[in-house]
Amino acid sequence: MAGIGDNGNGGAVGQENINPDIVTLTRFLTEEQVKVPEATGDFTLLCHALQFSFKSIAYFIRRASLINLTGLAGSSNTTGDDQKKLDVIGNDIFISAMKSSSKCRILVSEEEEEAIIFDEHPSARYAVVCDPIDGSSNLDAGVSVGTIFGIFKLPDDILGPGKSVKAEDVLLPGTEMVASGFTMYGASAQLVITMKGGGVNGFTLENSLGEFILTHPNMQLPPKRAIYSVNEGNSMYWDEWTNAYFDSLKRPGEGMKPYSARYIGSMVADAYRTLLYGGIFAYPADSKSPKGKLRILYECAPMAMLFENAGGIAVNSRMERLLSVQPEHIHDRSGVFLGSKDEVQKIIDTYNKYKK
Ligand code: AHG
Ligand code: MN
Ligand code: MN
Repeated sequence: MAGIGDNGNGGAVGQENINPDIVTLTRFLTEEQVKVPEATGDFTLLCHALQFSFKSIAYFIRRASLINLTGLAGSSNTTGDDQKKLDVIGNDIFISAMKSSSKCRILVSEEEEEAIIFDEHPSARYAVVCDPIDGSSNLDAGVSVGTIFGIFKLPDDILGPGKSVKAEDVLLPGTEMVASGFTMYGASAQLVITMKGGGVNGFTLENSLGEFILTHPNMQLPPKRAIYSVNEGNSMYWDEWTNAYFDSLKRPGEGMKPYSARYIGSMVADAYRTLLYGGIFAYPADSKSPKGKLRILYECAPMAMLFENAGGIAVNSRMERLLSVQPEHIHDRSGVFLGSKDEVQKIIDTYNKYKK
């Protein structure tokens, strides 16, 4: 993988290798647009606004972590206040970026009870759904959080001056998304994006250039890996089959190695690791949260599209394809299992065994 200072050809000791041909997200989007002769450029402009919001949120999260560290040493700021502040800042940045892009007609955010409708742009063709800060309970500990997004293209007959768009117009299954992705704010900011029927590409924010650089082209999920990621503290609420499945990973039988557990508690970070290493990420529906915890529109569906396009599987707690699930309300929740093909297949098999 050639990095920004690396032309891939080696170089003399002590000499920096300069790669003058790096692929930035901006370049990538332009090249994708050129492949579609009928493209108007609206999607590219929307993505430019999105990438600006990711850079801004990354910047504020870096600053907030410093404040939180001071807080741990005796500041009067309460943990709850700081978290709330960042959720609000992330949300405000996102709303402002979408509004000013002039390409977004309607925005659904986890932080907003109602959908935000931009009537000042009646011909804007896109609907955007987002979780501005995912994993915010991890913020004070400086643990990775992220932003998740999905993009839908609205039908022409509801667009234009004099026409109105309602929240119901975004109650669509994930199969209708034209693109989805997330940015993880970790040691560096990592953006992973996919387009309908396309590959999955990962970019790393290079802070001095202020550009996302293509560092993980065409990401492919390993078909299997012995890692599971779930909040096991909920196991007393799980169904019998859910417990049976996770027990089978921990006690695989005579002479076999058990799975490793990895749970960060930020879906974006757990999903990113799963995309890179393989394994399974789950947040099952249970007796405490019978509909599940994670939100269909802006958490489950965008991740499902990324996982499918990277060669994985994503299902809900009834083993239905997550991308086919149509929410009835913008904040509807679902159980979720996503990961490597073989690992998710094991859950489907266990479910079928118990439900027969
Ligand atoms: P959010 O911060 O947007 O509310 O999402 C938190 C989600 C998700 O990131 C994570 O996978 C899950 O909640 C963690 O929940 P538990 O603390 O119940 O494990
Ligand atoms: Mn979330
Ligand atoms: Mn959130």
